[in-house]
Amino acid sequence: MIRYKKLCCAFSALLLFFNVAKADEGMWLPFLLGQLNGDAMATRGLKIPIDSIYAVNKTSLKDGVVLFGGGCTGEIISDKGLLLTNHHCGYSQIQSHSSIGHDYLTDGFWAANMSEELPCPGLTTAFIIRIDDVSENIIPFLSDTMSDITRAATVKKLSEILVKKAVEGSHYTAEIKPFYYGNKYFMIVSETFKDVRMVGAPPSSVGKFGADADNWMWPRHTGDFSLFRIYAGKDNKPAEFSKENVPFVPRYSFTISIKGINPGDYTMVYGFPGRTQQYLPSSAVSTIMDVTDPNRIGVRDVRLKTMDDLMRVNDTVRIQYSSKYASIENAYKKWKGEVLGLQRLKAVDRKKNAEVSFQSWALSDKAKTDQYGNVLRQLNTLYEENKMYSIANDYYVEAVKGIELLAFAENFKTLDRLSSTMPVDEKKLIEEIEKQTKGCEGFFKNYSPVIDKQLFASLLKLYRDKTDKALQAELGFIESKYQGDYKKYADEVFEKSFLSSEAKTKKFLSEYSAKKLKKLQADPGYSLYKLCSLAFATRVAPVFDENMAQINRLQRLYMRAQLEMNDGKKKLYPDANSTLRVTYGQVEGYEPRDGIIYKHYTTLSGVMEKYDPTNYDFNAPKKLLELYEKKDFGRYGSNGNITPCFLASNHTTGGNSGSPVLNAYGQLIGTNFDRVWEGTMSDIMFDPDKCRNITLDIRYTLFIIEKLAGAKWLVDEMKVVE
Ligand code: ARG
Ligand code: GLU
Repeated sequence: MIRYKKLCCAFSALLLFFNVAKADEGMWLPFLLGQLNGDAMATRGLKIPIDSIYAVNKTSLKDGVVLFGGGCTGEIISDKGLLLTNHHCGYSQIQSHSSIGHDYLTDGFWAANMSEELPCPGLTTAFIIRIDDVSENIIPFLSDTMSDITRAATVKKLSEILVKKAVEGSHYTAEIKPFYYGNKYFMIVSETFKDVRMVGAPPSSVGKFGADADNWMWPRHTGDFSLFRIYAGKDNKPAEFSKENVPFVPRYSFTISIKGINPGDYTMVYGFPGRTQQYLPSSAVSTIMDVTDPNRIGVRDVRLKTMDDLMRVNDTVRIQYSSKYASIENAYKKWKGEVLGLQRLKAVDRKKNAEVSFQSWALSDKAKTDQYGNVLRQLNTLYEENKMYSIANDYYVEAVKGIELLAFAENFKTLDRLSSTMPVDEKKLIEEIEKQTKGCEGFFKNYSPVIDKQLFASLLKLYRDKTDKALQAELGFIESKYQGDYKKYADEVFEKSFLSSEAKTKKFLSEYSAKKLKKLQADPGYSLYKLCSLAFATRVAPVFDENMAQINRLQRLYMRAQLEMNDGKKKLYPDANSTLRVTYGQVEGYEPRDGIIYKHYTTLSGVMEKYDPTNYDFNAPKKLLELYEKKDFGRYGSNGNITPCFLASNHTTGGNSGSPVLNAYGQLIGTNFDRVWEGTMSDIMFDPDKCRNITLDIRYTLFIIEKLAGAKWLVDEMKVVE
């Protein structure tokens, strides 16, 4: 009997795993939810009315979601403006408050009360007030025959008028963005706060546990969160930083559920996905897979290896380069997974098959044939013709600009221009000298000439070897003058260029006047920058930009055709463009490869399995080990363990980091922070079998705050339901 029961259980668990309905792809615009997929969400298990997700005339979940900084999402979790996002989203803030003496990256940071919260100049958070469809006010004024310049100018002019009207008499800002490649225009009205303070961050051994080795991977054990607080003026409106400011009282803050998760539970992610490309033609997908991604991966291999070698042996360099390294590595690893995922999905073949149906639809009557009959052929030809330029562009961006000295040199082009425009505007020149003198400090704070000199030699060689000779700068002198010895050339540039140290840059600037223009232009670093950028501007950009403009025009047409073809049959969501979206799915594991099943959650035991005190990336705080030994998880544990992360089938992308992950009742159950390796091609093609988002379980977050950091005062601010 017992055996029978066990078997039954195992069987139904298996059924649950294989039999659940496939996840729905899509990043939906919340203000179109009713139209788009409210029914589907309800069928999937949503238990709250659709208008509690997004509403304009009453409070809704959207009022608790913010755009955090430039590219992440955050959620409000107390009525005192407490904000939860990822550790990697707060990373540059944590880093900029850190030094060898206060190494918050290594040790974490916890304010003991509000007065200890740290101001973060430049950091903003924005709430969405409303989103309106303004297509009718714009599209009728545009035409397919219009030049790009006229089109852009018309959109700009009309937008300015609409925006002005929308925000008049308020402290809001508005922006109009194209959706569906310019087949729709929506206006986004937002409220931006500028006084945002750092409240807490776990040590990297929690917040970045597993670091780059585990990044984009499952099983995952990262406590990827940090806490901030929004401050407002006494009127609760946005204000510049001031000691007089008070914690912002939000319109909405999320209720937190610590009930825990089960396979099949409804989930949704509410946030700001950055960029997807779901509607590309097959030729674009094959270019990404076979050309763009591999090239960029190749250059970054070199960049990362060089940085890593020095970061491992030098703590100053480790802190200086930690943020840069993480962001270079992040895209690098994603591209690697993307290529594999697209190959496995046979993405190009799938697209080609879809294109056959498209083409027969497009040729099904005269009107359609006139409009769309050629669009695919033209797109495919253009992608083919553009390949060489696209390679040149990639190597310029990744290799030439990957040399920090050359990227920094670009800052001096205004000085160059001002000094060579007669008569010289002395006032502007002085202002520019001052600007660069101050500005260079930020650059050198995180700069190692040792790393950069090595990069200079290897990246320049890559650029030279891989870019079509007709499209690259004249670098023959490296062979004639330096016998092709890139290291020797690098030594000389770094010795002689004023750009290679803060002291030399400041000295150069302090002695600068228009008369010294020749000295600037003769500087070996600056002159190399000019040589490369001029070659790019004259040999690559004109054709590349024109091709891209044509591709964009055709893609707009192709998108319109796809919308028309699917009208009334299938709803198409617009590609992500850093605007507010909702995606829904359910808690579920997956099968990464034949014969392997990944569970939908991990436990703290997994942290202990990976724990390695000799490896910075897999170290863990001593106190965490003690809490584990004592099973001291408070109300956040279950079955003698605690869950750091879980998987669900929500369609997410970069920018969704920090997004609230909600249950069927709209309660917060976790914070989104990653996707799984096998699913990273979802930016181009979604696979319901393999695409999973990785969520930091809110119970682990609260456990770390309360038990590891001893910052219970923060948990006391929140509304937690058990
Ligand atoms: N992959 C996640 C995202 O795309 C996390 C990135 C930060 N972590 C890292 N190890 N670089 O942003
Ligand atoms: N870590 C990503 C971010 O910063 C989210 C992962 C993804 O690309 O889905 O937004």
